[in-house]
Amino acid sequence: MENTFGEKKLHIQWFPGHMTKARRMMEANLKLVDVVVELLDARIPRSSANPMLQQLIGSKQKIVVLNKTDMADPDQTRAWLTWLKKKNFTALEVDCQKGRGVKALVTAIQKAGEPTLEKWRKKGVRNRSIRVMIVGIPNVGKSTLINRLLGRNKTVTQNKPGVTRGPQWVILGKGLELLDTPGVLWPKFDNPETGFCLAVTGAIREEVFDQEIAVHILVQRLMKRYPQELCANYKIELTTEDTVETVEEKIALSRGWLQAGGVADKNKTIQMVLRDFKSGKLGAFTLEIAPKTGGEQ
Ligand code: G4P
Repeated sequence: MENTFGEKKLHIQWFPGHMTKARRMMEANLKLVDVVVELLDARIPRSSANPMLQQLIGSKQKIVVLNKTDMADPDQTRAWLTWLKKKNFTALEVDCQKGRGVKALVTAIQKAGEPTLEKWRKKGVRNRSIRVMIVGIPNVGKSTLINRLLGRNKTVTQNKPGVTRGPQWVILGKGLELLDTPGVLWPKFDNPETGFCLAVTGAIREEVFDQEIAVHILVQRLMKRYPQELCANYKIELTTEDTVETVEEKIALSRGWLQAGGVADKNKTIQMVLRDFKSGKLGAFTLEIAPKTGGEQ
């Protein structure tokens, strides 16, 4: 999708080499499971998905889960869920940090695994568990979800130096076994829009993109879609004359961030806006609007 807003474009310096090992491991582990839980970031459901996954999982059951819903626009989360369901996906929302929606996810996994169990029962196998794996791009909340599913807040397992081990199955109870190692999907950067979405939500490290451009685009979007929240948060007022530059200046001035000569400290402002957006402090925003149901994307 080309940027139609006359916005700057964000270039990502991404070298996917280090993802190759994670990808191979995920592909091997996928073969072992009956149900795949694809975790997406509710703020960017399109950019946090990797279309290759469908190819990799073939006909296995998949559940699409929108995470970080506490930081997303609730109307948009609903709209995305409606659209996903219309596309015949089993889809639900969670907030892994607080644990909201996790019980419903367990129920959905059990339901998704039922056809597999039925197949086994027909073969006379009665005590087979449904095997589940969580997959998603970096930082989408996979480990947090695994810890939630296991009911504790610590990392599940840690590799001890010198001790190699294969995949570990953790019994979740109720006939469910979870692979303790999540599948790491590589983020895709097929256009500048995706790069922008991944950058400002924290899916990629800050060193690989230009923060100034990213925040410029972000402020421009917020001015259009969430102006009230932007003003309330930074105690500023917007006029029709405002540009991204003047808004960034107003934010700096409202904080009293002046450099020598009374010039607004742009750098400090950029860092703060990025941090506030990433953490949800700025408000619950969704960057990618759900396609209208009824029409195609
Ligand atoms: P990953 O395994 O997919 O790489 O992601 P991980 O679970 O490590 O989560 C990445 C970050 O996202 C963590 O924050 C985690 O707390 C946060 N997170 C996960 N789920 C949610 C959610 O539903 N809502 C919110 N607001 N945050 C979520 P962090 O800053 O890296 O660490 P920390 O906050 O745990 O210290």
